[in-house]
Amino acid sequence: RPRADFYEAVGGEATFRTLVARFYEGVANDPVLRPLYPEDELAAAEERLRMFLIQYWGGPTTYSEQRGHPRLRMRHMPFAIGPAERDAWIRIMKSAVDSLDLPPELHTQLWDYLLGAANSLQNRPG
Ligand code: HEM
Repeated sequence: RPRADFYEAVGGEATFRTLVARFYEGVANDPVLRPLYPEDELAAAEERLRMFLIQYWGGPTTYSEQRGHPRLRMRHMPFAIGPAERDAWIRIMKSAVDSLDLPPELHTQLWDYLLGAANSLQNRPG
């Protein structure tokens, strides 16, 4: 887990709210990713990712209070994530992260984590 002051340094909840809202705007319009998510449940998925990232980066631990241990590998197994899905996720998240205009050091920390996590969650071969 990163230093707890990362959360405040990037702007706290408001920053994660913006990041995840922009990401799901992209998902809603993406022909590769949209079909993976439940028909009318994008708002709930958005809330789960937001709570998870807030907890990961040192904010409130609401995610685990509601969802338990993250177990991200296991929770993604039902979804077929091959190279195309992973690449779409990375492209949309990259543009959401870039839009935050964070100081370079914070940007790099956040992006390195998200990129590594996305690569680790590919669960189907190419
Ligand atoms: C859930 C897709 C990467 C964090 C989900 C869901 C889908 C999905 C379809 C179910 C939606 C829901 O009902 O919550 C993908 C794809 C990825 C990816 C295609 C590309 C590699 C990531 C990464 C993270 C992440 C990198 C974290 C950094 C989460 C979390 C949930 C979730 C926290 C909710 C888990 C729960 O509590 O049930 N993802 N995901 N995902 N994803 Fe991803």
